[in-house]
Amino acid sequence: MEQLAINGGKPVRSNLLPYGHQWIDNEDIASVVRVLKTDWITQGPKVDEFERTVAEYCGAKYAVAVSSGTAALHAACSVAGISSGHEAITTPITFAATANSVIYCGGKPVFADIRQDTLNIDVKEIEKKLSPKTKAILPVDFAGHPADLDEIRAIAKKRKIVVIEDACHALGAEYNGRRIGSLSDMTIFSFHPVKHITTGEGGMVLTNNKGFYDRLRVFRHHGITKNNQDKGPWHYEIHNLGYNFRITDFQCALGISQMKRLDRFVERRREIAARYNQAFAGMKELVTPIEAEDVKAAYHIYVIQLRTELLKVGRKEIFEALRAEGIVVNVHYMPLHLHPYYRREFGYKRGDYPISERYYERAITLPIFPKMSNADIHSVVRAMRKVVDFYRK
Ligand SMILES: Cc1ncc(COP(=O)(O)O)c(C=O)c1O
Repeated sequence: MEQLAINGGKPVRSNLLPYGHQWIDNEDIASVVRVLKTDWITQGPKVDEFERTVAEYCGAKYAVAVSSGTAALHAACSVAGISSGHEAITTPITFAATANSVIYCGGKPVFADIRQDTLNIDVKEIEKKLSPKTKAILPVDFAGHPADLDEIRAIAKKRKIVVIEDACHALGAEYNGRRIGSLSDMTIFSFHPVKHITTGEGGMVLTNNKGFYDRLRVFRHHGITKNNQDKGPWHYEIHNLGYNFRITDFQCALGISQMKRLDRFVERRREIAARYNQAFAGMKELVTPIEAEDVKAAYHIYVIQLRTELLKVGRKEIFEALRAEGIVVNVHYMPLHLHPYYRREFGYKRGDYPISERYYERAITLPIFPKMSNADIHSVVRAMRKVVDFYRK
């Protein structure tokens, strides 16, 4: 048996393979430089163009680009009317920003456990958590696999509450043959470098609702409205609290350029996932991600679950052994209710969400990004086989 790198053996890779990485080409760089040479480098015409490009791609009527995915979530929660005394239901298996946006508005995030198969929020669990205080549901399209959006929309419609879909993992994904982006009251994207396309930092809210759209634009710019110009050309009014959540024109130039390659990026992610699935199919110690029939997943991340009952060690040892082989694995995510902050503020405790907790104990995220070569994929597979062979019971 091959000696593991963590025990002094030769690592599978001599250089580290990150778990995610942007892909910036010369055309991307040229488009940013062109904007930097103009007079307009903060919010200007490229912001409108980027919004139109993403909205058209996703089949949504309106889009508002902002400074991050977190800002987009915050803005959406605010215009949905979440405030003190309200609750919003979301999944524990997400990045903190999903739940935090509810808290920024004064509301309480109420978690609902996940489905064991898709790892997305479980509709039956949502139903158990509904209360007269529920103002919104925030499903997350975890790893790029759309949540059960039809069922969630139906619950929300009956209750007259808002669905804010955190699709930060799911740009380019499809649900029942339709692109993610117009299937919820508001859909959120992030353009962080590990996402499907990047603007450095950046985010967007998509909606078909003109009322939300108008309020999002005002919220992005300090709450400033210019409706009473008869009082003078300088005159503006602030009717509600807003923020500076603006994104710049040169960031949006990068976003527009990246959008031209989005389909290729998503296809390459799907190809990498398929190769992993095939390579790991024969390893009973690993549970590979599933893709529901009515869905095209965008594979922002590729999460594998370890059947630790078949291994001599737990997730921590496998994780460390893979890193020593040169594979920068990751974990998405520690369930939010287990973090000290949410325990302290909202009284959550271990045992509250058993499926999420069990998932977390077994999950490892493997590298996936469009620029990965076939040799990179092969090195991940080789490292995984080497480590699992060593620790197999
Ligand atoms: C599910 C989810 N929601 C929200 C965010 C926040 O996006 P950003 O980093 O652009 O603020 C992220 C990004 O990491 C995410 O993965």
